[in-house]
Amino acid sequence: MASAKTPARGRAKAEPRFAILILAAGKGTRLKSRFPKVLHQVAGKPLLEYVVAAAKQVLPPADIFVVIGHEAEMVRQSVAAGGVRFVLQAEQLGTGHAVMAARQALAGYQHVLVLSGDVPLLRPQTIAAVRDFHLAHRAAMTILSAEFRDPTGYGRIVRKKKSGRESDQVAAIVEQKQLTPQQARLREGNSGIYAFATAPLFAHIEKLRTDNPHGEYYLTDMAGLLARAGEKVVAVRAAEAHEVEGANTRAELAQLDAEVRNRKCAELMAAGVTIFRPETCVIDADVTVGPDTVIEPFVQLLGKTKIGAECRIRSYNVITSCELGERVLVQNGCVLEAGCRAGDDVSLGPFSHLRPGVELAPECHVGNFVEMKKTRMGRGSKANHLTYLGDSIIGEKVNVGAGTITCNYDGVAKHTTTIEDGAFIGSDSTLVAPVRIGRNSYVAAASCITDEVPEDALALARGRQVNKEGWAKARREQIAAAKKEC
Ligand code: UD1
Ligand code: CA
Repeated sequence: MASAKTPARGRAKAEPRFAILILAAGKGTRLKSRFPKVLHQVAGKPLLEYVVAAAKQVLPPADIFVVIGHEAEMVRQSVAAGGVRFVLQAEQLGTGHAVMAARQALAGYQHVLVLSGDVPLLRPQTIAAVRDFHLAHRAAMTILSAEFRDPTGYGRIVRKKKSGRESDQVAAIVEQKQLTPQQARLREGNSGIYAFATAPLFAHIEKLRTDNPHGEYYLTDMAGLLARAGEKVVAVRAAEAHEVEGANTRAELAQLDAEVRNRKCAELMAAGVTIFRPETCVIDADVTVGPDTVIEPFVQLLGKTKIGAECRIRSYNVITSCELGERVLVQNGCVLEAGCRAGDDVSLGPFSHLRPGVELAPECHVGNFVEMKKTRMGRGSKANHLTYLGDSIIGEKVNVGAGTITCNYDGVAKHTTTIEDGAFIGSDSTLVAPVRIGRNSYVAAASCITDEVPEDALALARGRQVNKEGWAKARREQIAAAKKEC
């Protein structure tokens, strides 16, 4: 709708009371999934979360009701934190039946906006525009429709004719399987988004029948029922079909996912982020990136990842719900798991693996084949090569040599390794936790440290070197002599 208005909050008391009802009880048979359809994700977020977020831009959560049924608890928990309310549709007998289940909940409202939990791109402006159109036309039912390039699967809008021309008024919605060949040519599809005046809706809803190919109570049949009862049923087209596309199959989910991610990249680029080959990147809807950051091809930024300004994220990184400061360099091939944080000017990779609970202060360097878990590292510390640091507290300006391993697990419990400021851990050391390496101390290369190292000390914990003069030469001569004999 070109004239979509910004959503209004806190409308004056005299205005009619609206509720929003989100249908989310269905199974989603076409996805062939163990999980309910509305919890399937697009750009890293469940379908239903998008719809609830849009609804909350239009009405306060206390006026938003989500109809749940199939895997009700799972669906409830996914959006309960938003303060919305729930209606249980114990048996899922169709979209009309879902609205019947909400009769009590909607008793105090004059109008209800019905949204579909599987139509995630719907914008709040469009919901508000449906509401305004509905009020302006004093309609009993207002249908949001769209001209689909391929309307297959959508119910089709059969408009009434007025002196031979199309009118705003609708005679019926006809579901795909019941289309006559002539109706099959209609490209105006039903978005599954409606506004109803509750009085005529509930006066007639019991007349819905299940004499259709699915044996369900179709909410779409309300259009014909109300029209035949002399009530006003109107349809208004969405400006863009994209916005009201539903996700019924894996293929449709993939299309919506691509659409949201394309938009996300476009948004980030408009805000000053460089993305080379954005079509190869997988960036979730809630990710934020600061200006002048450069994202190379084949990068995945997932969940609630926050990246500061002027960073460079090189190819083949997978970063999930992490927070990176400014000017952070992430070289190729890193895996950064949920909750990791890296301060300004940190350098990571190539091929670093940060598991949950890693916090790197500014100017840390974590390099090739370094795995970290539940470890805090102070400003300017380095672990550049082939290292495992788990359950560790590392101070500032510590140098962790190549091949250092914290032995944090004794088969029963995890223990902490503490490395204080300025300590130098020689290459190939093993630090058997619990253990503390004191300030400014040295651990000699290849040590196996089992006891505390005091401040400023050198710890040597390895066998002494023995040189046997001439041994190699003598052995060579022995072998040569043996060969001659045979
Ligand atoms: C529905 C419309 C179709 C429209 C399309 C738009 C009907 C009969 N058809 O078809 O005209 O073009 O949406 O996307 O309404 N649900 C319940 N309880 C149930 C059944 C479904 O809550 O008993 C929920 C589903 O979880 C879903 C929504 O209602 O979120 C729509 O159901 P779905 O089965 O996807 O309807 P469509 O076949 O897409
Ligand atoms: Ca659908």
